[in-house]
Amino acid sequence: MIFGTVKIEKPLCLAPMEDITDKPFRLLCKEMGADVLYTEFANCEAVIRNVTREVAKMSVIGEEGPIGVQIYGSNETSLERAAEMAEEAGANFVDFNAGCWVRKIANRGDGAGLLRDLPRFQAAVAAVQRGTKLPVTVKTRLGWDLENIVAVEVAQMLEGMGVQALTMHCRTRVQGYSGEADWSWLARIRQNSGIPLIANGDIVTAQDVQYCYELGCDGVMIGRAAIQSPWVFHDIKHYFETGKLVPARSLQERVNLCIRHLRAHVAFRGLPRGIYSFRRFYSGYLKGMRNISHLRRDLMTYTQVEPVIERLHAFVESYEEDFDELDP
Ligand SMILES: Cc1cc2nc3c(=O)[nH]c(=O)nc-3n(C[C@H](O)[C@H](O)[C@H](O)COP(=O)(O)O)c2cc1C
Repeated sequence: MIFGTVKIEKPLCLAPMEDITDKPFRLLCKEMGADVLYTEFANCEAVIRNVTREVAKMSVIGEEGPIGVQIYGSNETSLERAAEMAEEAGANFVDFNAGCWVRKIANRGDGAGLLRDLPRFQAAVAAVQRGTKLPVTVKTRLGWDLENIVAVEVAQMLEGMGVQALTMHCRTRVQGYSGEADWSWLARIRQNSGIPLIANGDIVTAQDVQYCYELGCDGVMIGRAAIQSPWVFHDIKHYFETGKLVPARSLQERVNLCIRHLRAHVAFRGLPRGIYSFRRFYSGYLKGMRNISHLRRDLMTYTQVEPVIERLHAFVESYEEDFDELDP
């Protein structure tokens, strides 16, 4: 596949995720083996009004790519200008979001709302293309609901427009995150369109990735599994290279990475905001650990970095003692 001007065979992409895939998290996932990165989505209206938070989301200058800046909206003039700004912000390609299911976005016809009006969808993508000389990719869902799946038509439409890649989250807008992603649509898209195709939705293991390749996908995109374990990219690659699974990470390794991520996150976002916004990451790093309700509660109360680090180190020590007692 080609992203911007970079060719990558069977890329593992880190999904765009609002409030998650900021620069520190992207760098961490890149280090763990993610091949292609995306920014959190930025609203084209806010971007063109220079709303600081939205403009900041797009900034990727100097970041190791390929990296796509993701924008959404449906007003053609705004999209055109936002695409131009994404290019100025250092993107290697511009990704257009036509998959956001959140009510206030989809119901006004943006994000997945475009799946109910394909001519408008097409006009929006064309506007993004007019605004930038960079390649444009699109991320969307199967359709508005199960009775109105338009995945194949969308793929054909975008292929005809010269879109560089299509990422398909294999759920409908109405499904949100319920049920399971229906990957069978990937095969149907592949049979009916030659557009470079990135599978998305519920991909966690190397077996999932392999299956998506067997269905004809050119790459995969991983979101929530990377929040749970940023190592997921490394582990999938390791399996493909050696045929072996990576043993589960020790608590010490998990905590070490958590602390490194915390420091980078707070350095990027500042205090106290960074310490609050990092709270969403603890459950991933501590997944599978026993008796962590007290730890969890404490982690939600700290407003400085050092007490968090001390508490995590103390937890590792007590946990290992605990473990030794149970496993003589
Ligand atoms: C917290 C969160 C924020 C998200 N924000 C975005 C976003 O900004 N842009 C986007 O295209 N998708 C967004 N998504 C959707 C993901 O990119 C992805 O399509 C979805 O989570 C399914 O993939 P997964 O099963 O690997 O998580 C978000 C998902 C989550 C969980």
